[in-house]
Amino acid sequence: APLTVAIDGPSGSGKSSVAKGVARRVGLAYLDTGAMYRAATWWCLHRGVELSDGAAVAHAVRVMPLVMGLDPAAPTVHVEGVDVGEQIRTTQISTAVSAVATNLDVRAELRRLQRAVVDAEREPLGFSGGRGVVAEGRDITTVVAPDAEVRVLLTASEEARLARRSLDVHGTADAAAVAATRDQVLRRDRDDSTVSQFQVAADGVVTVDSSDLDLEQTIDAVLVVVEQ
Ligand code: CDP
Repeated sequence: APLTVAIDGPSGSGKSSVAKGVARRVGLAYLDTGAMYRAATWWCLHRGVELSDGAAVAHAVRVMPLVMGLDPAAPTVHVEGVDVGEQIRTTQISTAVSAVATNLDVRAELRRLQRAVVDAEREPLGFSGGRGVVAEGRDITTVVAPDAEVRVLLTASEEARLARRSLDVHGTADAAAVAATRDQVLRRDRDDSTVSQFQVAADGVVTVDSSDLDLEQTIDAVLVVVEQ
């Protein structure tokens, strides 16, 4: 039967790599909801929308021609036919994304699209084959798919998160790189916390702490929860 796996966690918890790995191992589709908020931010900047104008941002996101590719081996993000997979990972987007993600009309619109993916993947006779999906983000276990069979909060110590993030962005986790990463990550955690509760597991959500685990070990720990 189709399975929904919901994974939430903060920046640097490793949730994207873990969610992709779990999807590959179980044979599920993969939905990166953070990439949708990043694409929305890219689209607003691309169209010259002032991010402080909430109504204009909400309108732009409602008309955004977004297509998410759900293959965990090669997930893609297209807006208006343009592959924005690389452009949505720049520091400019990482710095601006919380302004878009804290807009409640934007959240309502993107949650609706996310829910549509979850529902389509749950449909056994559907067009996508009814494999089910691993969806990851900040509010998947609580708001987008609180009815998922498997719900996991991926946590890690602040030290581990900053080191991972620094390695992602700067290619090194030396003291200078970690310091450069720190302000941005902690500010984004703070801003995101005003709209989603992803720091503490909700009722029925299993916490997996990846501080002392490598990627494969973390995937295995989540697979243990899937098999329960
Ligand atoms: O790259 P990182 O793991 O730090 O973040 P991400 O998963 O790519 O998400 C980028 C941003 O999107 C977050 O900082 C949130 O502002 C927003 N987001 C959200 O509000 N709700 C989600 N379900 C996923 C992401």
